[in-house]
Amino acid sequence: PASYVAAPYYPTPHGGWVADWSESYRKAALLIANMTLAEKTNITCGSGYDMGRCVGNSGSALRLGLPQLCLQDSALGLRNSDHNTAFPAGITVGATWDKSLMYARGVALGAEFRGKGINVFLGPTVGPMGRKPRGGRNWEGFGADPVLQAVGGALTIQGVQGQGVIATIKHYILNEQEMYRMYSIVQPGYSSNIDDRTLHELYLWPFAEGIKAGVGSVMAAYNAVNGSACSQNSYLLNGILKDELGFQGFVMSDWLAQISGVPSTLAGLDMSMPGDGLVPLLGDSYWMYELSRAVLNGSVPVDRLNDMATRIVAAWYQMGQDKDYPPPNFSTNTQDATGPLYPGALFSPSGIVNEFVDVQDGHAIVARNISRDAITMLKNVNNTLPLSTNSSLKIFGTDAQKNPNGINSCSDQGCDQGTLGMGWGSGTARYPYLDSPMDAISSRASNVKYYNTDTLPSGLTASSSDIALVFINADSGENYITVEGNPGDRTTAGLNAWHNGDALVKDAAAIYSTVIVIVHTVGPILLEEWIDLPSVKAVLFAHLPGQEAGQSLTSVLFGDVSPSGHLPYTIPHNESEYPASVGLVYFELGQPQDTYTEGLYIDYRYFNAHSIKPRYAFGHGLSYTTFSFSNTEITAVTPLTSTPPARPAKGSTPTYSTTIPPASEAYWPAGFNRIWRYLYSWLEKSDADAAAAVASTSSYAYPAGYINIQKPGPPAGGAQGGNPTLWDIAYTISVTVTNTGNFSGRAVAQGYVQFPVGIAYDTPVIQLRDFAKTNTLARGESEVLTLNFTRKDLSVWDTVQQNWVVPSVGGNYTIWIGEASDALTLGCYTASLG
Ligand code: NOJ
Repeated sequence: PASYVAAPYYPTPHGGWVADWSESYRKAALLIANMTLAEKTNITCGSGYDMGRCVGNSGSALRLGLPQLCLQDSALGLRNSDHNTAFPAGITVGATWDKSLMYARGVALGAEFRGKGINVFLGPTVGPMGRKPRGGRNWEGFGADPVLQAVGGALTIQGVQGQGVIATIKHYILNEQEMYRMYSIVQPGYSSNIDDRTLHELYLWPFAEGIKAGVGSVMAAYNAVNGSACSQNSYLLNGILKDELGFQGFVMSDWLAQISGVPSTLAGLDMSMPGDGLVPLLGDSYWMYELSRAVLNGSVPVDRLNDMATRIVAAWYQMGQDKDYPPPNFSTNTQDATGPLYPGALFSPSGIVNEFVDVQDGHAIVARNISRDAITMLKNVNNTLPLSTNSSLKIFGTDAQKNPNGINSCSDQGCDQGTLGMGWGSGTARYPYLDSPMDAISSRASNVKYYNTDTLPSGLTASSSDIALVFINADSGENYITVEGNPGDRTTAGLNAWHNGDALVKDAAAIYSTVIVIVHTVGPILLEEWIDLPSVKAVLFAHLPGQEAGQSLTSVLFGDVSPSGHLPYTIPHNESEYPASVGLVYFELGQPQDTYTEGLYIDYRYFNAHSIKPRYAFGHGLSYTTFSFSNTEITAVTPLTSTPPARPAKGSTPTYSTTIPPASEAYWPAGFNRIWRYLYSWLEKSDADAAAAVASTSSYAYPAGYINIQKPGPPAGGAQGGNPTLWDIAYTISVTVTNTGNFSGRAVAQGYVQFPVGIAYDTPVIQLRDFAKTNTLARGESEVLTLNFTRKDLSVWDTVQQNWVVPSVGGNYTIWIGEASDALTLGCYTASLG
């Protein structure tokens, strides 16, 4: 459709026009002004796959004091390292609905990455959003809602960057399934086809918030959007990211996602990772020496290279990495103390690669608190929970105990054995230890029998006081590993529990009159085979708790605390309740097409629009106590107009010479000792001279629409994230939350907007806009929570005006507050109360 835009957008806006970044740009421009051509091209590209200690190692400009930058996974903790914390995954963090814990995890992650000498943290993941329940990497992010993703992502960025580490918001954008994501020699990666309004209102939302939080780096996704690969999509990179959203940092490719040299440069890519060309390890690259050549022969404008290099150096200054920043002291490639410095080279010098620096500090406590406060109680008949430590407990399921082969026996956690603490792929960390559910239960309860099996042993008999705890799980991960037939996405497993989990629960329920099901899962699973069985008394979703699976669970099971997690996605009765368009896309000849025909209607937005009552609604989560919400007060803060006030003009950016530098700036230095296959930015003298000769005799044919004149920027822009007035608070709502039950506990207030009836835009019935969580409230205790609703929260994206529009100024918006998307007890009407 015509509304599926991938129009060319040139040139790349120069960075530096936002006041918050101007000092960093001033310093960066000074440094860049002294760089040779080969130094500039060197810093925009990795030195090659497996060519350094980190998963990505950019080229340096040591003469000017700029080191190689170390880029390292993952969003939940140090990948392939040691003496680190394996934090709970994003989906677990989302389930806490606790902003302070989201931030605290970011701070701890930042401290650990800095402690290992990492310049660039490859997280947070806010895309995939979870559009597809079977999508393999949904668990890396915070939930199937733009606001939950946005808050989790932005607070992680603030936490990480506060430690001086550059964060990377990824994957930009619409990487909603794993299969067929990558371009290869035989087939292009899939194209996510989307309309402009859905792009803005759902999938861009968390990126906008991350940029508003000042994120230093963005990772372009593997797939295409509307037919154009994300790593060279000028509409997405130049247009939306760098102009409309005012992104001031640098855009890196996902690993081997770069598929061209000049087009990706012009489209706004700033750093190629890990630097290799089409076939890794051959020592070829689309950039490095080729980018030097492309600048010399005039096919890449000089100011574009200057902007690329300046963006990278500005991000480095912005985080203060020019002062006392430690170099890497670990290796992602080996656990040995010494080894090849460049494992990808056949002949590499060796040296110390792992110094085993302990960066864990007290972070296990943050991790445990998150895992605990994420535990989501879906069902608890007759107050079965909490349990007494004297109960007779019969425990079933391999998911209750550690992988017998070793907690880190599968590289990148590429297996589902033992208790599930995270999904698989690059978004993982090694466990320093794993506090399993069985470890914690057996250290607290006195009468425990554990059956480490997923099949109920025959001949069991139950006494009436026995309580069965059944542990089941569901896994997924990144496409490059296939686990039990699932190539990242949950293909063969579907949305059911793995390893016979449904049968285990049913069989236990046939024998024991009290069954408690504990679920470790990457996302929604189907519960229908057993959820209504009379003996299934309680169900806890512990999500993906990381290393702290045990005590976090026992503190809820035995009632030290009440569960306070809430679902970060909807649980359906069966898969047919979802729109067909969110199913996985399978092989097609040519480019697989993944078309977002459901538009704005994913997860609860779809269920509500079609009046489908799910099994458990988005936001659902029970407590051992009860809460009342009262004294709602709505205060109008900033008056609204239908379109935002005019954006501020761009501030000044560095001025760059357009003169092509002399070819000698790219000559190999005399007598340089090259490492075979390592990527360098120098050219043979004859090649450099030949390139310069081309520039003097012909001019390069730029893509259609290419004019190298900077634009003022679109009306929806104006600062990091967009027009700053989009964040003007229109209404503040305060609500008194009182613990009315018999147990202390924490409540979550979720705030949803319902647009006025009769407006000219089709809008989902309700949409989450803000949330807050109480401290632990004792019986009878109250706390006032405050939620904010901004101009953007009350706007829709108007595709004709290309702006955020309040569709009904003074109209009757309803703001709903409650404990779940289907338990909204309080509505406030902006027109009558505002
Ligand atoms: C590919 C993954 O998609 C990305 O998330 C990760 O950061 C890079 N590999 C580097 O490992």
